[in-house]
Amino acid sequence: MRRRIVAGNWKMNGSKDLVQQLVGDIREQVAGFDERVKRALDVIIVPPALYVDSVVSQGGSELATGIQNVGQWQSGAYTGEVSSDMARDMGCQYVLVGHSERRQLFGESDDVVAQKIKCVLDSGLTAVLCVGETLEEREAGEAERVVAGQIQQGLADVSAGQWSRVVVAYEPVWAIGTGKTATAEDAQAMHAEIRGVLEQMNAPSEDVSILYGGSVKADNAAALFAEPDIDGGLIGGASLKAEEFVSICRSFPVDA
Ligand code: PGA
Repeated sequence: MRRRIVAGNWKMNGSKDLVQQLVGDIREQVAGFDERVKRALDVIIVPPALYVDSVVSQGGSELATGIQNVGQWQSGAYTGEVSSDMARDMGCQYVLVGHSERRQLFGESDDVVAQKIKCVLDSGLTAVLCVGETLEEREAGEAERVVAGQIQQGLADVSAGQWSRVVVAYEPVWAIGTGKTATAEDAQAMHAEIRGVLEQMNAPSEDVSILYGGSVKADNAAALFAEPDIDGGLIGGASLKAEEFVSICRSFPVDA
């Protein structure tokens, strides 16, 4: 059964005070959601690594915690890195892997992404694989091929029993932080493609949650989440405002 998921990627933003205030506000409002909504929805806060511990304790049972990145090793002489075993140890349940900022600014290749996915799954955590094409790739008609390649390589070593801990986030690079969102129809078309690619990889594709990310806001979330293959969102900028983020969490169709 695929889950509805809204994950707030804080990127390199936040402070002790913000964790206290924002997580407290979000938690309180999520606690007041209808029981049916709560059962079907996972709300995840993904702060910078240093604040994971505070988010875990502030978030209580209403909120899950994720980490934005881990190294492709579990321990050793890798100054500055943290591992997925450490993330699990600190109470994280989710790890973002291959976010476009990691790929573009830190040179993460599909090969490194695949190694990180393996670490995350071996640690018993859920991996959120981020994929997406650049504007040039979309304009060249390459979007589907690029996204399919990222999925095939990133998830090449997932074993049958691990698929229940894999989430895919489709984030067109041109829509991240730009205020430009893919139309719900374009996003749906790509999500259906992604499900097809997963099917070809012998994944239980109907059970894998596929999130959309890229300038999701309270006023466009409902149209996106109404699409049959869009199971939730990975939210950047709008995750730093409690009202906005909670209203995105409330944007799923009521009767589905
Ligand atoms: P955005 O970021 O919502 O600010 O566009 C999304 C993301 O990078 O995950």
